[in-house]
Amino acid sequence: MVRHTNLTDVNNAAIKQAAQQLAEGGLVAFPTETVYGLGANALSPSAVAGIYAAKQRPANHPVIVHVAEGANINFWAENITPHAQALIKAFWPGPLTLIMQRASHIPSAVSGGQSTIGLRCPSHPVAQQLLQEFAKLSPGGNAGVAAPSANKFGQVSPTQASHVRSEFPDLTSNDLMVLDGGASEVGIESTIVDVSDPNAAPVILRPGHILPEQIEAVLGVKLGVAGGAKPRVSGSLKAHYAPATPVYLVKGSQINQLLQKLHNKGRVALLAYNHVLPDHNTNIDFYACPVTPQAYAHSLYSTLRQLDQSNYTAIVIEQPPESTGWQAVNDRLSRAAAAHQAL
Ligand code: TXA
Ligand code: MG
Repeated sequence: MVRHTNLTDVNNAAIKQAAQQLAEGGLVAFPTETVYGLGANALSPSAVAGIYAAKQRPANHPVIVHVAEGANINFWAENITPHAQALIKAFWPGPLTLIMQRASHIPSAVSGGQSTIGLRCPSHPVAQQLLQEFAKLSPGGNAGVAAPSANKFGQVSPTQASHVRSEFPDLTSNDLMVLDGGASEVGIESTIVDVSDPNAAPVILRPGHILPEQIEAVLGVKLGVAGGAKPRVSGSLKAHYAPATPVYLVKGSQINQLLQKLHNKGRVALLAYNHVLPDHNTNIDFYACPVTPQAYAHSLYSTLRQLDQSNYTAIVIEQPPESTGWQAVNDRLSRAAAAHQAL
């Protein structure tokens, strides 16, 4: 289960004001249980264009539409498959995004021109309250907030309000209202499952907190394997979620060799999983990583951000275990490290 921090710093008035800002076509950053989102009215192509401009993101990358618990999904999607219905019942609200066929009256701006739509119902209470308030201001109560992660394209996703503000120093609080809901519990982006094809097994497009085996247990079928013709997922680009400081991902047995290579190049941060101090440790700051995938994911992005601002010449990360429970963490680590060959 996803737990939530106590939300004392976001009051009802701020959430109502944020809903108003969305209704007027503006941008609102809001907490979810995964990461913070950069939101705009999903039914307004010009509001959605504001997200792309702020993120400096290519316009052919689709964004996820967030809806309140109990929202009418038939307004957003058509030909909703039994698999989609079963996953909604089992995991919403929660960190699961479903790719379905987009209803024809929904602007294609939210899906980068594709015929599908990514829908998610977040469980964070501030996100839920924002979505409910926005629905009150929307015709027929049909409201959706298009929201990618609230970071510049390719950068590490924000898990705290302060991260969002530092991502967009160019935007004033009038241009971008940031709701502070504390640190995101999950810490990495939602699991994305493509359930748009009634004739194919569902496919995981992005691993996350909700595991393949949990999804298979609900559906009673094996998941399919992602193929080349699947929809574009920007988080599936090889180098993504990457800090500016070079990140190297290595097995424990290779750490000493890499550290020797980096010797004399400046200070190095070592994120160690096994907590064994390396041989050559004069220029190395040692950080012990959490030992469960949930705790590791929770702190991963804030740790990478902190280290990125600490003037290291390199961030060396010891590969955690490769069992399925670690799949989402390993996915994000390999993308953060994709630009730099370790050895
Ligand atoms: O946890 C999350 O999913 C967070 C929070 C804010 O909800 N959002 C997030 O958004 O990670 P973003 O834009 O950074 O990543 C969303 C991913 C992208 O990789 C995008 O390509 C994919 O979802 N996506 C959205 N709609 C899609 C569609 N119709 N077909 C295929 N992929 C889609
Ligand atoms: Mg993102």
